[in-house]
Amino acid sequence: MQDTTLPKTLTLGRPDDFHLHLRDNAALSAVVGFTARQFGRALVMPNLKPPVTTVAMAAAYRERILLACGANATFDPLMTLYLTDNTAADEVARVAESEFIYAFKYYPAGATTNSDSGVSALKNVYAVLEAMQRHGVILCVHGEVTDPSTDVFDREAIFVDGALQHIVRDFPALKIVVEHITTKEAADFVTAAGPNIAATITPQHLLYNRTSIFTGGIRPHLYCLPILKRETHRQALLKAASSGSSKFFLGTDSAPHAKNAKEACCGAAGCFTSHAALELYAEAFDASNSIDKLDDFASRFGAAFYGLPRNAGTVTLQRETWTPPDDFAFGSEKIVPLTVGRSLGWRMTDL
Ligand code: DOR
Ligand code: ZN
Repeated sequence: MQDTTLPKTLTLGRPDDFHLHLRDNAALSAVVGFTARQFGRALVMPNLKPPVTTVAMAAAYRERILLACGANATFDPLMTLYLTDNTAADEVARVAESEFIYAFKYYPAGATTNSDSGVSALKNVYAVLEAMQRHGVILCVHGEVTDPSTDVFDREAIFVDGALQHIVRDFPALKIVVEHITTKEAADFVTAAGPNIAATITPQHLLYNRTSIFTGGIRPHLYCLPILKRETHRQALLKAASSGSSKFFLGTDSAPHAKNAKEACCGAAGCFTSHAALELYAEAFDASNSIDKLDDFASRFGAAFYGLPRNAGTVTLQRETWTPPDDFAFGSEKIVPLTVGRSLGWRMTDL
C-alpha cells in the first residue's frame, strides 16, 4: 500500500544539466528536445568528431543546437571547448570574452569516447591552465588515468590522487569541476578541497553499482565511463549529493549512442538518460530520504558555481508509476535508454 504521508508532487526551480552530450546532425535533432523539455540550460560537451576546439567552432555548434531546438525553445546551450595538447593560451582569452562558452573540457587522451585528441601529458597544458586560472575560466575534468594496465575500476581514484592533486596544488585559484564522479575518493577529495573545486554526479552512478552491469547477463545500457563502482561508492555519492554541500550538482552525462553501437561485440560507453533525467534523480534522492535536497542539487548549486542566475520558472514531478519507451528514434537508427525494461516512480508533468 502506498504511504500516504509521502509527497505526491514535487516542484523544483527549472534545473540545469551541467554535463551533457548532444552530438550533431540527425543525432542532435533526435535528442535535444528531451533536455530542452526539462532543463533551462545545459553545459554541452565538445567531444564531437572533429572536437570543438575553438570559439568559432563552438559558436557554429551552438547555432546548430538552437536550430535543432526549434523556434520557440527557451533552452540555452552553454558551450565548452575541448582542451588539446595544442590549445593556444590566446584561445583562453577569447573564451573569457565569449558570452556563451563556460569551460574547457580536459579529456586525458584515450580515456573515453572521442578522446583521441585529448591531453597526452599534463605538462603539455600547463601554460593554458595558468591562463585559465588568470582569466577565471573553468576547467571541467574527466578524471581517469589512461594507462591500459591500470584496472578500470581504479582509474578515477588514481587520477584523483595524482594528476588532480597536482593541478590543484599548482593552480590553487583555478575553478575545477570534477565531472561525473564515481568514487568515495573523488567525493572526499572534492569535499575537502577549497570552494573553487566542485563535482557533477550522474543519475546512473546514484542508482546503480557495478554488480548491476552483470545482473542476469551483461547489460550494455549500464556501461559508461567512468564505469559504475562498488556499492560503497554509490553510497558515498548519494551522501555527497544529498549533503546540502553546494560543491555537488547535477550533470547527467547523458551520452547517446545508437543501439547497434551499444549492443555490439565491443559496445560503446555512455548511458542515455535525458528522456527521464529528473525522474531518475528524484528516484535516487527519494530512496535515500532526501528528496528535499533535490532542488538545490538540480537547480541552484551548479548555476551558482558557474556564476549564473537561477532559471525562471519551475518544473513539477508527480509520484506515478510509468514505463518509458524501450527505444527512441535516433536518425536512421534507434537509441535505447538506461531505463529499458523498468518502470519509474516519478514523472514530470508538462504543466
Ligand atoms: O561513457 C561515456 N560516454 N563517458 C564519457 O566520458 C563520454 C561519453 C560519450 O561521449 O559517449
Ligand atoms: Zn561526458
